Amino acid sequence: MKVSFKKAKTEKDIKSILDYNIDAFSDSPDFKWTFEEIKKEVADGWELFSLNLDAEVLAAVFYKVEDDSLLTKNTAIKITHQGSGFSHAIKEFFEKVAREKGLKKIIHYCRIDNFRMYSLNESHGYKKTPRKLGPDGQVVEWMKTLD
Ligand SMILES: CC(C)(COP(=O)(O)OP(=O)(O)OC[C@H]1O[C@@H](n2cnc3c(N)ncnc32)[C@H](O)[C@@H]1OP(=O)(O)O)[C@@H](O)C(=O)NCCC(=O)NCCS
Repeated sequence: MKVSFKKAKTEKDIKSILDYNIDAFSDSPDFKWTFEEIKKEVADGWELFSLNLDAEVLAAVFYKVEDDSLLTKNTAIKITHQGSGFSHAIKEFFEKVAREKGLKKIIHYCRIDNFRMYSLNESHGYKKTPRKLGPDGQVVEWMKTLD
């Protein structure tokens, strides 16, 4: 079984990530996840990747470079594959990208009530900032400074 991250380059790629991961998108109320909204995110500079196990899409992963930071967010892991450590692979992916790009910080956004993500973030050395984002203040910001 092979884990990989694949960049969405075309509308067809975006559509296939949305189609194969629709449960995770609908279980991730942090952001608006329609095809049009995802296209807007991409137009706004977010790079979209799929996390794949062999040919299966397990999650959608976004990042964007801003100043000296890598801004990051992702959908939930596909429900059938939660509990297998795939979210650690996403964190490692973000860290590798940030280091390769010579960035100083990783910023991660997640929903205010995603407490399992809180533990995950803490275990990877992120600290929660006081910022609340999103239209209802439901998105919180985490920050990790790289050595
Ligand atoms: C929570 C989530 C990030 C975990 O990803 P995963 O790949 O399934 O993670 P795993 O169960 O393998 O655990 C990875 C880490 O997440 C954290 N975690 C997972 N389950 C946890 C729990 N019940 N309590 C606390 N921390 C937990 C831990 O840090 C864990 O690391 P460890 O196993 O080394 O201790 C992911 O499943 C997710 O986003 N789920 C949906 C969240 C949700 O409920 N969304 C809807 C409302 S926002």
